[in-house]
Amino acid sequence: MDRDGTSHINEEKAHILVVTYPIQGHINPLLQFSKRLASKGPKVTLIIPSTTIRFPANASTSLISVAYIPDGHEEGEILSVDEELKQFRAVVSRTLGDFIQEQVESKFPPTVLVYDAVMVWALDIAREQGLHGAPFFTQSCVVNAIYHLVHHGLVKIPVLGPFSLIPSAPLLEVSELPSLVTNTELYPVLMSMVIGQFSNLKGAKWILVNTFFELEEQAVKWMRTQYPIMTIGPTIPSIYLDQRLEDDKDYGLSLFKPEVEASMKWLDSKEAASVIYVSFGSLASLGEEQMEELAWGLKNSKIHFLWVVRESEKKKLPAGFLDEIAPSDMGLVVGWCSQLEVLAHKAVGCFVTHCGWNSTLEALCLGVPLVAMAQWTDQPTNAKFIEDVWKVGLRVKTGEKGTASREAIEACVREMMEGEKGKEIRRNSLKWRELAKRAVGEGGSSDKNIAELVAELV
Ligand code: UDX
Repeated sequence: MDRDGTSHINEEKAHILVVTYPIQGHINPLLQFSKRLASKGPKVTLIIPSTTIRFPANASTSLISVAYIPDGHEEGEILSVDEELKQFRAVVSRTLGDFIQEQVESKFPPTVLVYDAVMVWALDIAREQGLHGAPFFTQSCVVNAIYHLVHHGLVKIPVLGPFSLIPSAPLLEVSELPSLVTNTELYPVLMSMVIGQFSNLKGAKWILVNTFFELEEQAVKWMRTQYPIMTIGPTIPSIYLDQRLEDDKDYGLSLFKPEVEASMKWLDSKEAASVIYVSFGSLASLGEEQMEELAWGLKNSKIHFLWVVRESEKKKLPAGFLDEIAPSDMGLVVGWCSQLEVLAHKAVGCFVTHCGWNSTLEALCLGVPLVAMAQWTDQPTNAKFIEDVWKVGLRVKTGEKGTASREAIEACVREMMEGEKGKEIRRNSLKWRELAKRAVGEGGSSDKNIAELVAELV
C-alpha cells in the first residue's frame, strides 16, 4: 500500500484500456473480459461511455478500474436509433480521445485499446494516440462470419434463399439467418452498424471473439483464414465455472434494478429442476399477441415459472394474468433479476430465452437446457445452433406471422421439463458446461489466448 492508501502498482505494469458500447449485452462481456485480462497481471481500465447509468453501485470491480465518460445522452431523452448512434459517435469520438490522451500522459500509459467492435471508429482514435487497437466482437463466430461475407459483397442482401456458410456447417434457412440481413428495411442503421464492424480491420493485430474454440470449431477455423481471430470466451464470472478469480461473483454492473431477494427466496421454496426461467434480455420487445400467448402457455403448462418482464414491457401482460397466477404461487414476475444466480439455482429446470448471445453462453456454462424463442438480430442463428448443432435446446414453432402459439409454447416447455428429449438435452448441456469450464480454465483454449495477448502487450 502507498501512504495515501492506494494499492501499490508496479510502474512497469502494462495498462490496457477497454471500451464498451453502453448496453447490458455488451457491458457484461467486456466487463468480464476486463477482469480476466487483469487476472493475468496488467492494469485494466474499463471505459463506459455513459453518465446516466443508474445502478453502478453493485459493481464488483476491485480487479479493474471503471471510468465513465460523457456520451451526450441526457437522462429521459428520446432519440431515434439513427440520431442516437450519430450523437454517440460525435460525442464519444471526442470524450474517448480526451480520456485516452489523459491516460497516455499518466503514470501508466496504455499500450492498447480493446474496443467494442460496433464502435468501429475507435480504432482510429486508438491509433491517433499511438495505441494498438483490438476489436471485441460480442456475438458468435458464425454470426460474425455471415456479417463478414455480407460486408465483402460475397453474399447479397437481403438474403432471400438458404445459405451454406462453410463446408460442414449446417444449411441455414432464411428464417435462421440474422434478421438484419434478411429484413434489411426494418433497421437499416443497425444493419450498417453490424456489417460495418468489418470495415476497419486492416492491420488489426488481434480480433477478439466472445466464444470458445470447441463450441464453434469450424467457424473459428474458417474465420482464421481471413482474420487473426482469438477466442476468449465464454465471458462468465469465474465463480460459475468453478474457478475463483478475486472478487468475481457477478458481472458487477446492472442497468436495471434487479429484484434479487424476491426471486431467490421464491426459487428457494421450489423443488429441484421444477421451475421454468423466462427472460428476453435487455432489448427485445415482444408484440402484445406474443406476450399474451406466452403468458397463457406458461400458465397452461401448470409448471412453476419465474418470468422477467422489464418495466417497459409490463403493460403488455394480459389483463388479469397476474391476479390469476397469484393465489397458486405458480409463477413470479419480476422486472429484472440476477440472471446468473437464477440459472445456477437448483430449482431451475429450463430457460425460455430470446437466444441473446450472452444468455445462450450463460445457459451453456450452467448446463441449463433452452427453450428458444428467437426475436431478432443474431438470435435466429443462435437458436438454430442451440437446437441442431449443440443440441442444448428446442425451438418453439411459430405460425405464419412469426408468433408462437400458447399450445406450441406449452408443448415445448413440457417436453423439456418432463419428456425424453428433455432428458437427452439436459445430458448434452452438462457436456457443454464441462467444455466451457475447460476453455477458460488454466491452460484451456480461451485462457491460453488471453495469456498470449497479455504477454504480447507487456
Ligand atoms: C443483445 C443481443 O441479443 C445479443 O445477442 C448481443 O450479442 C448483445 O446485445 P440482449 O438482447 O440484452 O443483448 O441479450 P443477452 O445477450 O442475452 O444479454 C442480456 C444480459 O443481461 C445477460 O448477460 C443476462 O445475464 C443479463 N440479464 C438479463 C440479467 O442480469 N437479468 C435479467 O433479468 C435479464
